[in-house]
Amino acid sequence: MHSVDATTEQMIRSVLAYAENRLRLDPVPLDRGSRDPAELEAALGGLLAEEGHNPDQILGAYAATLAPAVLSADSPRFLGFIPAAPTKAALLFDMLVSCASVQGISWLEAAGAVHAENQVLRLLADRAGLPAGAGGCFVAGGSAGNLSALAVAREMAKRKAAARPGPAGGAGAAAPAGPARWRVAVSADSHSSIGNTLRLLEMDPLPVPAPGHRLTGEALRATIDADGDPGSVAAVVATAGTTNAGIIDDLAGAAAVARDLGAWLHVDGAYGGAGLFAPSVRAAYDGIEHADSLVIDPHKWLFAPYDCAALLYRDPAAARSVHRQDASYLDVIHAGDDGGPAEWNPTDYAYHLTRRARGLPLWFSLAVHGTRAYTEAIETAIALAAQAAAEIRARGYLELIREPQLSVVLFRRRGWGPENYTRWADSLLADQVAFLPPSAWEGETVARFAFLHPHTPIGLVREVLDRME
Ligand SMILES: Cc1ncc(COP(=O)(O)O)c(C=O)c1O
Repeated sequence: MHSVDATTEQMIRSVLAYAENRLRLDPVPLDRGSRDPAELEAALGGLLAEEGHNPDQILGAYAATLAPAVLSADSPRFLGFIPAAPTKAALLFDMLVSCASVQGISWLEAAGAVHAENQVLRLLADRAGLPAGAGGCFVAGGSAGNLSALAVAREMAKRKAAARPGPAGGAGAAAPAGPARWRVAVSADSHSSIGNTLRLLEMDPLPVPAPGHRLTGEALRATIDADGDPGSVAAVVATAGTTNAGIIDDLAGAAAVARDLGAWLHVDGAYGGAGLFAPSVRAAYDGIEHADSLVIDPHKWLFAPYDCAALLYRDPAAARSVHRQDASYLDVIHAGDDGGPAEWNPTDYAYHLTRRARGLPLWFSLAVHGTRAYTEAIETAIALAAQAAAEIRARGYLELIREPQLSVVLFRRRGWGPENYTRWADSLLADQVAFLPPSAWEGETVARFAFLHPHTPIGLVREVLDRME
């Protein structure tokens, strides 16, 4: 299994030939995700057995049965949820990272990979205006980033409460300091992973009514002022690009309130953070520079393959004090760890230990193409959203729900109910035109474009809209 024998040679030829063909697809076809499990089992049953099989037979089963049963999120026709659109450069380099099993755990083991990843993190931190000391690591996704960041926020709140002098459990008191459960100010439009995170960390949401689905400093302040226990608010979560509508919260306003409250500001830019590269919308992110923690997912709009999310902290030492794992056999990776960048251990900045160097494909692609190409590709999706909005306005049977701020467009077909949307979406997929599952807006089933791929043509948008008439 580990030597280079005739079977290995055969696999190298076959698998690389398959990968080459896949890389050359332009455009990538949509395919279909959902399948009858019996159909899949009929093709694959018995393949995992005591004795192995010819690799070409297994690759054939993958190509014939499995691959077409996975929707291609990197197809320009994938317009639902949040798509992916990895560059060819990033995909190629991801293969290299896999081939070499490049790890990115500690400086001791992987200084080269970690240094390159840190260059990318620095680039993102600069775009956001975070200070020179900011840093973090790449994690598997926005959910993992949100969880890791808010774990630090909760711990910082606990420590602050413990250090506060006074009878209510301050320094030296017997009772635990702080509230029984910490709370986090969130709007209803924050991502579902924030709700999950709060459950996992045993924190409660402090819901902030968001006028027009945008959390504002004013609404946040009013909520805090009316609250009987603002001292139990450990953090404020603001979203830089909501998933369903692409709205950027009032980050400057949220930052000011968080500062006055002494609470942690977490900015979830998993989807929309890439807009920091787009001059046409950059002003909407003002205030992001005050974030204590920030998540931006390159596997969304920075054209990296799965799975890649950037997690940045204003004060990485705080994160390290929460996430660092200690064990006798790990002492060596922390020896000489003075907190400086020379001994940067990505494992110390999130809930993980072993990790692949998942930032490297983005590093390679950024270095090959330059940041201007990224700006242009991101602006293309923003412009396409504006064009789609214009197409919707021009059709009497459609109604634009709100002007797109980023690359998501919500709209309704006058007179349609949920079944109409489902039939329309099913037929678009059946005909391999587009993947565009319905969404909901204020309780109503609606249609939603999520654009990311720079090669999605306006002609496809028109075709999708025409099929609603
Ligand atoms: C704003 C936002 N936050 C978090 C996430 C979760 O990211 P992931 O699916 O990579 O865990 C998403 C995913 O769409 C998102 O849009």
